[in-house]
Amino acid sequence: MACVQQIYLDLAEGVKIPALGLGTWQALDEDGEKAIDSALEAGYRHIDTAYVYQNEKAVGRALRKWLDSGRIKREDLFVVTKLPKNGNRPSGVKKYMEASLDNLGLSYVDLYLIHSPFGFYDIEKDDPNAEEVVDVTTDHVAIWKAMEDQVVAGKARSIGLSNFNEKQIERVWNSAERVKPSMLQVELHLYLQQKKLVEYCKSKNIKVCAYSPFGSPGAYQVLGKESPDVLNNETVKEIAEKYRKTPAQILLRHIIQRGIAVIPKSSNPKRIQENIQVFDFELSPEDMHRLDAQGQGKVERLFDFSMFKGATTHPEYPF
Ligand SMILES: NC(=O)c1ccc[n+]([C@@H]2O[C@H](COP(=O)([O-])OP(=O)(O)OC[C@H]3O[C@@H](n4cnc5c(N)ncnc54)[C@H](OP(=O)(O)O)[C@@H]3O)[C@@H](O)[C@H]2O)c1
Repeated sequence: MACVQQIYLDLAEGVKIPALGLGTWQALDEDGEKAIDSALEAGYRHIDTAYVYQNEKAVGRALRKWLDSGRIKREDLFVVTKLPKNGNRPSGVKKYMEASLDNLGLSYVDLYLIHSPFGFYDIEKDDPNAEEVVDVTTDHVAIWKAMEDQVVAGKARSIGLSNFNEKQIERVWNSAERVKPSMLQVELHLYLQQKKLVEYCKSKNIKVCAYSPFGSPGAYQVLGKESPDVLNNETVKEIAEKYRKTPAQILLRHIIQRGIAVIPKSSNPKRIQENIQVFDFELSPEDMHRLDAQGQGKVERLFDFSMFKGATTHPEYPF
């Protein structure tokens, strides 16, 4: 088992999150289980999953093996999962939190995120083929109270948001009475550096976690959109050569040096190993500057939710 000197970010209440974690979207069943196994072997301790990824059981099986054999202690792991859109209402929080814990075989998660700022109209009781339609009445304040209850109940050590825009974060922040949001997980990569949003989060002491740091090259089949080819950026390649690192490692290190956590996904043991080798070098201020300059409004978000009926006409769109 590799020992990697990670960097940690401080969330609220003394909770620390490893800056680099494993993304698991599209890593299903045995593929997901093996990815977790390789990741733990390589030294990852932060695992990102979600109810909608349909891999919590596979993630849980892999974690269980490590926990039961005593190779790892629960307190050394940082497990993140998310409230699905179908459960994005006050009554859904406890229900889906418990479903996720059951899937994972854990008694608590380290971070529970509201996956998106909108829910779907409740179709669970209706025709299973009924279309998912964006619910414009999603009540962030009431949902947040139910999120806070999960911390009080010991089911989540910290809670946060994903894909919320500034106005929506502000609403949650202002309404939070017991627990403030400690994390925003958002699409962020070289061509979408989210500088304004990151600054805003910093002002509220909300940490940011970057998803799709490689521009999500595997997303085409699902989203039908070309991914931004950040791995082949010429400046990144040049800097990679200089540090004797790969473009992937430069992209990840750039994000981490901005004080942002990052969750690259891979199911390939070699790339899983490669992606965590980012703590043995430091980018110079000049190289950071060159990388910072690559991201000026080059691309739109891949995950803009426009595929969901009613999203683009939502009064708070874009999220
Ligand atoms: N909150 C949200 O709404 C949200 C949305 C999207 C994603 N996420 C989270 O963020 C994670 C990461 O985002 P993502 O999966 O969209 O995209 P990503 O991490 O940018 O890219 C993953 C893709 O890059 C490939 N890859 C991995 N390491 C590589 C390397 N070193 N060199 C070249 N290619 C490499 C992977 O292929 P192999 O697997 O074959 O290595 C996979 O196809 C997700 O898995 C998920 O956990 C959250």
